[in-house]
Amino acid sequence: MKQMLEQRTREYRAYIEKFMADYYARFHDEPQRELFESMEYSLLAPGKRLRPVFAFEFCRMAGGDWKKAAPFAAAVEMIHNYSLIHDDLPCMDNDDYRRGRLTNHKVYGETMAVLAGDALLTDAFAVAASAEIPGKDIAFAIQVLSENAGSLGMVGGQVLDTQSEQRLLTEQEVLDIQSRKTGALINAACVLGVIAAEGSEEQLQAAACFAGALGLAFQIRDDMLDVIGTQEEMGKGVGTDANKNTFVRLYGLEKCEELVQKYTDTALEFLSVFPENDYMRALALSLTTRTV
Ligand code: IPE
Ligand code: IPE
Ligand code: MG
Ligand code: MG
Ligand code: MG
Repeated sequence: MKQMLEQRTREYRAYIEKFMADYYARFHDEPQRELFESMEYSLLAPGKRLRPVFAFEFCRMAGGDWKKAAPFAAAVEMIHNYSLIHDDLPCMDNDDYRRGRLTNHKVYGETMAVLAGDALLTDAFAVAASAEIPGKDIAFAIQVLSENAGSLGMVGGQVLDTQSEQRLLTEQEVLDIQSRKTGALINAACVLGVIAAEGSEEQLQAAACFAGALGLAFQIRDDMLDVIGTQEEMGKGVGTDANKNTFVRLYGLEKCEELVQKYTDTALEFLSVFPENDYMRALALSLTTRTV
C-alpha cells in the first residue's frame, strides 16, 4: 500500500508539474517576461500538489481517464498558488518564506506579486476551459471553480480570517472560515475530477462531502504544524498564527489531533461510493500525521 501511495502520487505530481511548466513555456518570448518569471517562481516551486492529486484520483475513481482532468487540476493549482502569493503579502499574513524559498513579494516586490496572483487566477479559467470534455461539463466545471475560489469560497474565507484576529471566535465561526479559505479549493479539486470523468450525480455529491470533511482535517493539521512543525521541514515560517483564530487556539493540540482523525474518518465514509478507493483512503490517512 505504501508503495502504491508513493508511486501514484509521484506520477500525478510529475504529470501536473510538466503540464503547468509546458503551458507557461510557450509565453517566454512575451515582453512581460518578469510577470511570467514571478508566476513560475511560485507555481513551479516544490509544493505537495495535493489538489491536482485529488482531481486526478477522483477522475480515476469515477471511471475516467485521469489525464483528462489535467486542465482542471492545473487550474485549481494555479488558483491555489495565487492564493498563497496573496496570503503571504504584508497586508495579509506578512510571511517571508514559502516552500523553502523567499515569498514572491520578497523577490519580485509587492506590485509584481499582486499582479502574478491576478494573472494566475485569470489564466486558470483559460486552462480549465481547454479540457477535452463536452462543453456543458466545462461550463459546469468553471462555475464550480469560480464559486469555490471567489466571494463565496476561498476569498470569502480569507476575508473572515483577516477580520477575526481581534477577538475569540466560536467553533462554528472557525469552521465557517476554514471550510471556505481551505475547504473550498479542495472541494473544487475533487468535484472537478468527477466532472472530468463525466461522473454521476451521486459521485459528485460524494466528492463534495469528502472534500468538506477532509478540508477541515487538512487546515486543522496546518494550524497544528504552525505550533509543532519546523520551518526547515515545512518551508514556511512557523509560530506566525499566534493571534489567529485556529482550532489549536480554541481547543489545544491534543484535542486537535482527535479532530483531525474525526474529520478524516468522516471523509473516508463518503469514499464508499467509489469501488476502487484504496489509494485515496491511504492518502487521506497519511495526511493526518503529515509534517509538511
Ligand atoms: C497551504 O496549502 C495553505 C493551506 C490551505 C493550508 P498546502 O499545504 O497544500 O501548500 P503546498 O501547495 O503544499 O505548498
Ligand atoms: C491559507 O491559510 C489559506 C489560503 C492561502 C487560502 P494559512 O494562512 O494558514 O496558510 P499558510 O499557513 O500561510 O500556508
Ligand atoms: Mg492566511
Ligand atoms: Mg498564511
Ligand atoms: Mg497556516
